[in-house]
Amino acid sequence: MSKSAEAALAALFDAARSAQANAYAPYSRFAVGAALRTPSGAIFAGCNVENAAYPQGACAEAGAIGAMALAGERRIAEILVIGDGEGLCTPCGGCRQRIREFASPETPIHVAGPQGVRARFTLEELLPHSFGPDNLKR
Ligand code: THU
Repeated sequence: MSKSAEAALAALFDAARSAQANAYAPYSRFAVGAALRTPSGAIFAGCNVENAAYPQGACAEAGAIGAMALAGERRIAEILVIGDGEGLCTPCGGCRQRIREFASPETPIHVAGPQGVRARFTLEELLPHSFGPDNLKR
């Protein structure tokens, strides 16, 4: 990886880790942070926000995407999700679809733990044969 790509990934990791520290996860006790970079270079982050009415909880990726949209941005160039625990904190099915709306099949999705990036996927790998805006065309 080039020095600049490494620095960009480190910035994403730091943003996601800071977001994770603010996660509101009193029920699962599983704090998640997400950070995405847009083609402009801007970074948007989010954390999971749970709710006493459990299904109303929101994932970290949803928060990051909401912040991106609020800023008027519409493309995800790269995204990183961080969670603790033994297993990889890969985006849930719903969040794969949320990412898909603003990404391309090649968009990198980095999965991190406290020590750093643990795995790298593309959106196509995590959500093959997906349904997106073009599929609505008739
Ligand atoms: N969670 C996320 O925020 N993102 C993911 O990609 C996986 C799961 C949250 C949802 C819930 O608050 C907690 O992690 C446990 O599932």
